[in-house]
Amino acid sequence: MGFESIRGMLGRPTAGDAGVVQGWLRTVRHAKEVSFLDVNDGSCMDGLQVVANPETEGFDSVVRQLSTGCAVRAEGVVVESPGKGQRYELHATKVELVGDVAEGYPLQKKRHSFEFLRTIAHLRPRTNTIGAILRIRNAASMAIHNFFQNEEFFYLQTPIVTASDAEGAGEMFRVTTLPPGVDERKEDGSIDASEDFFGRPTFLTVSGQLEAEIGALALSRVYTFGPTFRAENSNTARHLAEFWMVEPEAAFYDLEALADLAERFLKSVFADVLDRCEDDMAFFEKRIESQAITRMKTVIDEPFERIPYREAMRILEGCGEKFEFPVGQGLDLQSEHERWLTEKHVGRPIVVTDWPASIKAFYMYRNDDEETVAAMDVLLGGVGEIIGGSQREHRLDVLEGAIRAQGLDPDDYWWYLDLRRYGSVPHAGFGLGFERIVQFMTGMANIRDVSPFPRAPGSAEF
Ligand code: 4AD
Ligand code: MG
Repeated sequence: MGFESIRGMLGRPTAGDAGVVQGWLRTVRHAKEVSFLDVNDGSCMDGLQVVANPETEGFDSVVRQLSTGCAVRAEGVVVESPGKGQRYELHATKVELVGDVAEGYPLQKKRHSFEFLRTIAHLRPRTNTIGAILRIRNAASMAIHNFFQNEEFFYLQTPIVTASDAEGAGEMFRVTTLPPGVDERKEDGSIDASEDFFGRPTFLTVSGQLEAEIGALALSRVYTFGPTFRAENSNTARHLAEFWMVEPEAAFYDLEALADLAERFLKSVFADVLDRCEDDMAFFEKRIESQAITRMKTVIDEPFERIPYREAMRILEGCGEKFEFPVGQGLDLQSEHERWLTEKHVGRPIVVTDWPASIKAFYMYRNDDEETVAAMDVLLGGVGEIIGGSQREHRLDVLEGAIRAQGLDPDDYWWYLDLRRYGSVPHAGFGLGFERIVQFMTGMANIRDVSPFPRAPGSAEF
């Protein structure tokens, strides 16, 4: 018999046929002359109950010795279950032990804290919560690809090792093959990488944007979807040192077209995930965040509010709310401000547009007022900023000026500037933090619990 997942088995149109299940035991209950095995194979939230009795081959030698965590294979007949909340169960004719479990298996049947589960990231995918998160990550990834493929964006693989600081914020991890202890500093403090692997200083990328622009100025519309790295020392519940980013980039787009794209994109991805992960989302709604599904529906059904930064700041200044961080024209929005605006003030997603140039990256299109740039942040309740993007500065002289004004060296961006010399066109793009949307969908409080292998300051064990 070929392979069948528990998900497949539970979806059979009728009971009565033979079946084989393979998976790990969540719980085992031994009664007189009968044992109940709750087998889970990760294919869905539900496990399958396997019922064994003395007629079952392996009853005494295997079944009666089983405990939580064992890996088993069970053969039998799929029958309708009298039990509540399960459609079918398997009446086993044979049970085999595939992998025994050693003393001290840490995942016993009780609620473990997420902090504890982070210390056993190699085993935590076997819990309901983390298993569901991994399935939602999978569904959301496919939904993202589907959306862009339908919109005629080409998937472009941008480099992970790079020489350019795409955000100009100096938060990059150095990549080197020089042995530790080699003094790479020149007298002026800059890095001497002439002996290094690439013959120049290289880093892990903070964003694929600059290379995505190369793609957009040839294929018109591209997107990236890959890992990005930030060496910012933010020990917060919404920052990771390694996270996945989705970055569409489109030629002949202005900020308004970009905001439209972002809105269509989020609506489409959320609708797909709700559709494909019904059981997993029901779990998060019941156990983690009672508004999880409702607020996803808000994103899907309600039009996004668009507010210029100046206006958003004016609202915050006059709202009378006590914030930890100051508000005022020219200041950046902090997470608490973002959340107040979207949760308390408008009750739907917000696109904040036209930010002060002084607090945004060098590549953003300078508006006619000379003070603001055509940038946007999309804010959602619960997590705040989920998307950051902008129309790009496509005028050579203005871009060169902005690079210099931020203390960066135009020579380091020579090829980026070349794109403005040869057939430059207005274009725009954004970046979506993948873990942030998974956080929003699931309601998980800490971003480290929606990444399978979180990297954060002081933490890279698994
Ligand atoms: O706003 P950011 O820094 O924008 C960029 O990197 C642009 N180059 C994107 C572009 O226009 N192509 O990052 C984009 C998004 C944020 O809105 C946030 O969702 C997420 O990436 N993000 C993080 N997620 C987890 N941990 C971090 N340390 C993050 N920093 C940013
Ligand atoms: Mg941002």
